[in-house]
Amino acid sequence: MDNRERNELFETAKSFIREAGTTIREKIDKPRTIETKSNADDLVTEMDQETERYFAEQIKSHFPDHRLFGEEGFGDEIENLKGLVWIVDPIDGTMNFVHQKRNFAISVGIYKDGVGEIGLIYDVMDDILYTALRGEGAYKDGKKLEINSYKKPIEQSILCLNTTWLLPENRHVEHEGIHNLVKKIRSTRSYGSAALEFAYVAEGIIDGYLSLTLMPWDVAAGAIIVHEAGGIVTTAEGKDIDMLNRTTIMASHPDIHKEVVENYVELKQ
Ligand code: IPD
Ligand code: CA
Ligand code: CA
Repeated sequence: MDNRERNELFETAKSFIREAGTTIREKIDKPRTIETKSNADDLVTEMDQETERYFAEQIKSHFPDHRLFGEEGFGDEIENLKGLVWIVDPIDGTMNFVHQKRNFAISVGIYKDGVGEIGLIYDVMDDILYTALRGEGAYKDGKKLEINSYKKPIEQSILCLNTTWLLPENRHVEHEGIHNLVKKIRSTRSYGSAALEFAYVAEGIIDGYLSLTLMPWDVAAGAIIVHEAGGIVTTAEGKDIDMLNRTTIMASHPDIHKEVVENYVELKQ
């Protein structure tokens, strides 16, 4: 894929994501069917499915040789990332979509042979589009995002953290350890959409996003956008992300990344 082809793909993907978002906005007040998936709090609506189906149809008709790796099952069976693969979360933050009718996003990452080329996160209700092209920086509605180093101490950092990790029954990490990490930092935030939490790290309004379990469609676009803004994205153990399977995530400002990872590794032991 040369630069011209990549730019065309970028423009087309942006038009898909904006059109999908417009449809969701138009239908936001319509009654919805809410179903549950893995547990009673894991929600899915017909809008999640309709949006992913829209991407599946558009990709098939415009780019028949591209594949779709989507959350809701309208895409392809993906066992590798060969060729061009769109990794799509049609609604990231479905609980917010259902309960709040805002604070959710459409997330689209386009990978070529496993390398992230294009990242798009669309905050649907606020009509804000975060974008990145590999090697060309990250943008919020066309304004460049840059995470500048200012030797920020971890004590003055705000981390996005799903507060269910703090519950005693949390299986992912030693209980006291995660409490100590939370005590060390300035504060936590939890927005309920992984994609938006990546976007906020790229924007510099949050210093890091730590998650102990995410799927590729939660991560694919955000990882490109944070990286292009100058942040660091790894697993919580500081390793490369496997974009085919469930993963932990530490996406942050470079000044605090090493220390949070070290804390996490220590508190896991
Ligand atoms: C969820 C959201 C949430 C994160 C969950 C994800 P969904 O995605 O991103 O913030 O904590 O792990 O599953 O189900 O709304 O697409
Ligand atoms: Ca998601
Ligand atoms: Ca989703």
